[in-house]
Amino acid sequence: MEEIYGKERMRRKMESSFSLSQNHLSGQSQNYKQLPEVGISEESKQLLLIDDEPTILRLYEKLLQRQGFKVITASDGKTAQQLIAGNKFDCIIADILLPGMNGISLLALLREKGINIPVILITGAPDLNTAIQAIKLGAYDYLTKPVDNEQLLRVVERAVSYTCLFREKERLEAENRLYLRRLEEHNQRLEDMVRIRTRELEKSLEELKLAQEKLVQSEKMASIGALSAGIAHEINNPMAYVKSNLEQIKQYASAIVSFLQKVFQEIETLKKDTNPEIQRMINELEESAEKLDLWYILSDCKEIIRETGEGVERVVEIIRDLKQFAHPNNDISGEAKLADLVERAITLTWNAIKYKAELIREYQELPPIKCYPRLLTQVFVNILVNASQAIEKQGKIWGRVFEEDGMQCVEIEDTGIGIPKDKLSKIFDPFFTTKDVNQGTGLGLSVSYGIVQKHKGKIGVESEEGKGATFTIYLPADFNPETHPQ
Ligand SMILES: Nc1ncnc2c1ncn2[C@@H]1O[C@H](COP(=O)(O)OP(=O)(O)OP(=O)(O)O)[C@@H](O)[C@H]1O
Ligand SMILES: [Mg+2]
Repeated sequence: MEEIYGKERMRRKMESSFSLSQNHLSGQSQNYKQLPEVGISEESKQLLLIDDEPTILRLYEKLLQRQGFKVITASDGKTAQQLIAGNKFDCIIADILLPGMNGISLLALLREKGINIPVILITGAPDLNTAIQAIKLGAYDYLTKPVDNEQLLRVVERAVSYTCLFREKERLEAENRLYLRRLEEHNQRLEDMVRIRTRELEKSLEELKLAQEKLVQSEKMASIGALSAGIAHEINNPMAYVKSNLEQIKQYASAIVSFLQKVFQEIETLKKDTNPEIQRMINELEESAEKLDLWYILSDCKEIIRETGEGVERVVEIIRDLKQFAHPNNDISGEAKLADLVERAITLTWNAIKYKAELIREYQELPPIKCYPRLLTQVFVNILVNASQAIEKQGKIWGRVFEEDGMQCVEIEDTGIGIPKDKLSKIFDPFFTTKDVNQGTGLGLSVSYGIVQKHKGKIGVESEEGKGATFTIYLPADFNPETHPQ
């Protein structure tokens, strides 16, 4: 019965066919052999054929196998579902009327799962509603039994081509996504590189600016140094004979004073003489001495010579600073405890400090370091003198020696007038001073800065206007004058 029914249907297949899809409409006049064969030839394409009629199943199977397709068959919806889950198909040809699950439900299930294999539905009892439903669900084609062999092959070929194209499209899209991702990664890497390079360039620019500033500064310092050396030399020579002449004048003056004192002692004894001529001469001499204010002159002479001596000493000090500034490389290295050098500096400056400030010593016991002891003493002298000059009436000065981060440090703090914020960056500049002409040349700190640098150390200042200032000198404990020659 089954077989007769099948054969009968096959007989009719040549007579009529019914197809609804646009694929069918557009390709009606074409021979299936002329259709594009995207990837078909490379490997045999696999089809799933579902029909509950074994005769038809076998007939279509053979037809399609002859055409080079690999065909897997199923006679009900459930088996078909299992096969779809475990295999890769390029096209599904399903009868609509199936036991268990019909072709439309199978199609709906596939679409629900996002499986996009083209499904060709075949029906023995065509009706418009089922056709519309099939197309709505995205059936690739809808054929009525009996199906014309050629038509079936043409539709299957197209569906397989569609699958190949679809898969190719998906492959290309995946490839595109991959390229896009790689491109984005490249872009990201490029942007990162640009960012790093920009940062490097900015850093180099910053370093270049700093180097330029240093260069300008060192050129300025060099010309100031040359100028200072010239001035020091010019003043030094006349100062040498001014100093020695002054010493001579002091001796002459003291000789003259003792001689005159002797003369007037003799005059006192001659006053007892009754000779009128001698009395007249004594009176004349005493009158002239009074007119001249001789006794005041003699005592003032001493004071003037002393003051001049102080002035000369100050000039000699300035010349020494200028020389040190111009040629900072002339000193003897040795070993010293920083506390001892601070003590020496205190002794040298005691006259300036004693009336102005209470001195508080806070020394940590530290081992001696290699250094230029005389130069470091000069630094502490300069800072101590500044501290005492900054105290207007009465204040305090702390002298500290301690260790910090492998450095030996000397800190000198005062309760003086402090340094205004806008002046802080200038105080180490040569010739910067806020003091009167004969009180400061503005060399003390710049010379000190140079000496500390020579020791590979650092000098820092903290100050609040009106409250005082703290100068800290940091010296590397492992400094070696021999490995850092002058
Ligand atoms: N302890 C301090 N308190 C307040 N101001 C200070 C202190 N130390 C330095 N200064 C300021 O820094 C300036 C520069 O000091 P620096 O020792 O170089 O020169 P100076 O004292 O003016 O002159 P010089 O030391 O050559 O006699 C001072 O004129 C002063 O304005
Ligand atoms: Mg000073």
